[in-house]
Amino acid sequence: ASGGALAGLHVVVTSGPTHEAIDPVRYIANRSSGKQGHAIAAAAASAGARVTLIAGPVALADPPGCEVIHVENARDMLAAVEAAPPADIFIGAAAVADWRVEAASDKMKKENGGAPSLALVENPDILARVAQGKNRPRLVVGFAAETRDVLRHAQEKLARKGCDLIVANDVGAGSGVFGGDSNEAHLVSRTGVESWPRLSKKEVAARLVARLAQIFHGEAVS
Ligand code: C5P
Repeated sequence: ASGGALAGLHVVVTSGPTHEAIDPVRYIANRSSGKQGHAIAAAAASAGARVTLIAGPVALADPPGCEVIHVENARDMLAAVEAAPPADIFIGAAAVADWRVEAASDKMKKENGGAPSLALVENPDILARVAQGKNRPRLVVGFAAETRDVLRHAQEKLARKGCDLIVANDVGAGSGVFGGDSNEAHLVSRTGVESWPRLSKKEVAARLVARLAQIFHGEAVS
């Protein structure tokens, strides 16, 4: 798709959950399906971008036209992001685990008696690292899955992490966003909020890519 809205640009997308090992057979995961992130990667490729998709464990096919790097946990995801060629646009759609376990190298055995307690340690914040690192992409986009005060939390997240845009969505009980095929998104920038109607994740991806192309090419954010 040469000549598309993102032609000539390198877009890096993270998508899916991460799995954090507890021991060699167990892990901590979350409910992210990767559908939204994968749809964004596909839409960016259709718009002519070179796309690197860094995917956690998902049950989805690799989207066409993307270079896909499969990772398991947050630290591997960060390493893959840092190893990718410089990006013009970074889109952090992955639901990266905030904490990992100080993993045991052998399977924990119930025969050892008592229930083990898990010591959690903080994972690196990939989005914040990208937004505040050297070689910062010109546009850094994060996601915010919230269950209350969606817009206020998105504004705070934008400032705290140093990204340019947050795609905020309400994942509260009954929203059906996790694992579902639709999403109600708000595009939050430093200067305002653009609220979109409930759309399919593919439509959200297409709209986001179209808006990012406009913003990248110099139009005001909202
Ligand atoms: O802080 P919170 O997890 O709510 O922020 C969500 C945004 O930050 C998403 O864009 C997610 O991909 C990104 N994130 C990240 N690394 C983390 C935690 C979140 O890149 N360790």
